[in-house]
Amino acid sequence: MHHFSYHHNVLCAEQTNLAQLAADVGTPFYAYSTATLVRHYQVIDQSLAALPHVVCYSMKANSNQAVLATLAQWGSGADVVSGGELARALRAGVPAHKIVFSGVGKTPYEIAQALKAGILQFNVESEPELHAINTVAESMGVSAPIALRVNPDVDSESFSEKINTGKADTKFGIPLTDAKKIYAHAASMKNIKIVGVDMHIGSQILSLDPFRAAYQRLRDFVLALRADGHQLTYIDLGGGLGVPYEELHAPYENATANTPQPADLGKLVHEYFGDLGCTMIVEPGRAIVANAGVLVTQVMYIKKTAHKNFIIVDAAMNDLIRPTLYEAYHEIWPVMKNDAAQKNLADVVGPVCETGDFLAQDRMMPDVQAGDFLAVMSAGAYGAVMAGTYNTRPLVPEVMVKGGDWAIIRPRQTVDALIGLDRMPGWLDQG
Ligand code: LLP
Repeated sequence: MHHFSYHHNVLCAEQTNLAQLAADVGTPFYAYSTATLVRHYQVIDQSLAALPHVVCYSMKANSNQAVLATLAQWGSGADVVSGGELARALRAGVPAHKIVFSGVGKTPYEIAQALKAGILQFNVESEPELHAINTVAESMGVSAPIALRVNPDVDSESFSEKINTGKADTKFGIPLTDAKKIYAHAASMKNIKIVGVDMHIGSQILSLDPFRAAYQRLRDFVLALRADGHQLTYIDLGGGLGVPYEELHAPYENATANTPQPADLGKLVHEYFGDLGCTMIVEPGRAIVANAGVLVTQVMYIKKTAHKNFIIVDAAMNDLIRPTLYEAYHEIWPVMKNDAAQKNLADVVGPVCETGDFLAQDRMMPDVQAGDFLAVMSAGAYGAVMAGTYNTRPLVPEVMVKGGDWAIIRPRQTVDALIGLDRMPGWLDQG
């Protein structure tokens, strides 16, 4: 379910007219819908209502302060993977006791930052990292709450191997076969407090089967840890629930054919973990923000060659890298709809000097003209956060919509600010 729809043939985010917004803000820009964010958060929260739980929004998907603050207002915690994300979460009002810290390479400085803040738990991904956390905690005279991230060796069947993290040959987690021994070791460390167990198998997962397989392995493992005398308060199941990127005009509730709903996953959580008396943690990222955001861009030129039609727009791979990096599919909707418009096969491409710079390839697109606005859909997750400034293209603004109201939540970066980040070495800086 999302709140982007046409009113009198103009695409609106909630009650905000995107053509007007484009005129006011300039293109390209990201626009997020508050109502969609909140609804997704609530649906996920409700799917676990019968169990004690914490939703730790995986903020790598979209870490704008306004997005975080909106979710925090509704009770969300955060899954962070760097000191930077930790600082952002705290600054936006996410309580430290709802923050989990994941990732394979936490630095001593980041560990100290998290201990100082008093986070809920570290999700530990290797034995050396466990030692590092113990050492930092000891130097601070505190105890570090930890869960080991286990790797269940399950194929998440995601669309891209680049985001398939639950298999044994990835860098993530500790193999189940080694984890028992490391838990025993952790229990003997003076400044480590075992509080739970953690797992995350991948992203954009469109079937419940990988979750089922992984949950079974995790449940068996939790029972084995209990038999060894470990006390576990938290079971963190990670994120990964896939979202529809296609047929977005269909009501989200009807898109069950190929997209499991949060409620379906919630049922599975009850089935496998409901009787264990633990607090469940989930780390959804994409499921909350992907369909809450669009990237609005303007058509600059139409270029027709003997081989192809190119729609050249002002957004590019530096603004939204998912199509280039993963060959990910994003629907592209005209901001002004004309049902009578003829459709042609075209590539939608940006101005960056790489053949890989495209937002869509071989797509049936309505007959658009220079000056028209297009909305790249489902761009709220892993869009703005993965943007860069390649070709000295400043970062584009982010706008948050709430009903008919909107606010710029990150202004457009200026070329001056971008150049201003550079410094001249003394031998070139002759005044
Ligand atoms: N927890 C952990 C430990 C993760 O590594 C991730 C995502 C999540 C939670 C959230 O997963 P989600 O619910 O969003 O699927 N850039 C890629 C996706 C990378 C996902 C990385 N980890 C993309 O654009 O598709």
